[in-house]
Amino acid sequence: MNVKHFLSIQDLSRREIGDILAKATYFKKRRSRDIHSSELKGKTIALIFEKPSTRTRVSFETGIFELGGNPLFLGAQELQLSRGETIADTARTLSRYVHGIVARVASHDHLLELSKHSTVPVINALSPLEHPCQTLADLMTIQEHKGKLEGVKVAWVGDGNNVCSSLLLGCTLVGANISVACPPGYEPPNDIMARARANARKSGATLELTTDPKLAVSGADAVYTDVWVSMGQERERRERLGMFKSYQVDSNLMSKAKPDAIFMHCLPAHRGEEVTAEVIDGPQSVVFDQAENRLHAQKAILVWVMR
Ligand code: CP
Ligand code: NVA
Repeated sequence: MNVKHFLSIQDLSRREIGDILAKATYFKKRRSRDIHSSELKGKTIALIFEKPSTRTRVSFETGIFELGGNPLFLGAQELQLSRGETIADTARTLSRYVHGIVARVASHDHLLELSKHSTVPVINALSPLEHPCQTLADLMTIQEHKGKLEGVKVAWVGDGNNVCSSLLLGCTLVGANISVACPPGYEPPNDIMARARANARKSGATLELTTDPKLAVSGADAVYTDVWVSMGQERERRERLGMFKSYQVDSNLMSKAKPDAIFMHCLPAHRGEEVTAEVIDGPQSVVFDQAENRLHAQKAILVWVMR
């Protein structure tokens, strides 16, 4: 059976990303007049979360409701999964009831296993490897503020984590230039870098990996950072805070970007760690536009996978 899953931003072509962002923009404009539509009428979408969430859970539940569907939140602890039922059996069972599964997982293998045995679309709501729904909202936000994606320069400063990997793939797919500054040993995985390089060759984007935040931010249109300690890495906290000390985004670092550069963060943020309060709460910050755009972008991706 040919089911469309959304596990990686790489599952989309440049053209599909363009179409999804156009649909998301349509949903955003339309929402002030008329919140409800019927694309998911009569459909139930299960949300399996193995980790906490504010934005992803609420934007998916709200978006599914606004599309006329029924969101069904399932904390992993409440499922028989927590008592040893396999992911495969959970996927097979849920596929008999629901029309789609949104999953936030503790291991990327859980997501692969779920999608392998699910006969309904599975959407990645964050894995340790990727956060593709975030990237769609981020590309939408960059497009809104910069008027385009092709040729803009995005700088990533900090951990080469899940959000970084999806952003790298997303930017290089759509022709946005990206420069990533990470401490040695915290770069994005090699296969993500290789795929991003291949994307860049095709789209004409440039891709740079450095250990120097100033170099990455120099002349950037958007400066992006994320937490230094992701969910599941709590035991590495001390070591990470030490490693990332010189990667904080403060106003001095922002001054190396273009004067009209935007500051981006997927949230939740830790003021005083990866970013200063002055920057994240300042005039260049677009973090709540990003958070809002999760709703619109995810409505568009739900429509895309269910088509
Ligand atoms: N950015 C993001 O995914 O936030 P949540 O963890 O609150 O869902
Ligand atoms: N990198 C963070 C993103 C949270 C939305 C994490 O995985 O915890």
